[in-house]
Amino acid sequence: MNKEIYFYYSLIAVLYPLVKVICYINGLVYLHGVVYGLIAGVSTISVGILALKEYDGANKPVWHWLAALIPLIVIPLTPIIMILHLGLRTFLMEKMTIFMIFEGIAVAQFILAILMFRGLIFKRGTDKQKMPGIGFAIMKTVLTLRSLFKKPERTLREMGLQKGQTLLDYGCGIGSFCIPAAKMVGDDGVVYALDIHPLAIRTIERKIKKRKIANIKTILSDRETGLPDESVDVVLLYDVLQMVSDKDKLLDELHRVLKSGGILFATAEHLDLNEFMNIFAKEKLFTLAEQRGEVFRFKRD
Ligand SMILES: C[S@@+](CC[C@H](N)C(=O)[O-])C[C@H]1O[C@@H](n2cnc3c(N)ncnc32)[C@H](O)[C@@H]1O
Repeated sequence: MNKEIYFYYSLIAVLYPLVKVICYINGLVYLHGVVYGLIAGVSTISVGILALKEYDGANKPVWHWLAALIPLIVIPLTPIIMILHLGLRTFLMEKMTIFMIFEGIAVAQFILAILMFRGLIFKRGTDKQKMPGIGFAIMKTVLTLRSLFKKPERTLREMGLQKGQTLLDYGCGIGSFCIPAAKMVGDDGVVYALDIHPLAIRTIERKIKKRKIANIKTILSDRETGLPDESVDVVLLYDVLQMVSDKDKLLDELHRVLKSGGILFATAEHLDLNEFMNIFAKEKLFTLAEQRGEVFRFKRD
């Protein structure tokens, strides 16, 4: 779905001037409206195409920024231009409908630009290119919204997390999973919340303090956990693997810390399913035991 968003973005970019031309033919907009639509359309389609190139690994997401910025400028500019040109006639029903159509297109394009950013941020090998603070803030918003639809507690329950277990939440982000998991493993259990990003660790530590949670230990790392061999019952790799650049070495480390017969849960988000399966097949350290929804359960060999 990630790359398809670029297609939808570009489609709307083409639609924008096209709708303007249709409206012009029907006498609903003036010529300057068509010119304005063409400028907006051509510039957004260009940045959309360039942003897609960035998706596969450029360092600075300049085109993604522009892809969001142009519709963001268009949103207030459309009413300004209409009011300047038509004055109060803008608020006549017929003009208002046209206005709403163009505003709708610009808003849709802005939302798609944010989704394009999401794909980029979540996909990056962040251990090679540190996610900037603003990227982390966007990720934080997306993860918070995600929790409203996909309840982490439900996923944890389906995973069968037990009291007294030790869980390693690898790439814990803002703690969507490790916070409820701490309650589920209880006082006799431990949750290790590991992340590469200092802002993630800071967020978790703030939550731990606020909620007076005693059984979460944070680890700031890009791979090495610092945990003893065979000390963990369950590892959770939720929406993380795609971001890790050296996946083989990570699996070695997770295999080392998992107890014999321990379980690794992983999701294949932002990865092609074959690519995801090959990562595990290549290392031969884990065997797929079950897939439930988007969560794959692997047994440590
Ligand atoms: C998309 S978020 C998912 C967070 C969490 N698992 C969740 O689903 O709520 C991915 C997290 O993995 C972290 N991450 C990326 N590469 C990492 C690495 N090599 N080692 C540890 N954490 C990493 C990112 O900083 C980010 O917080």
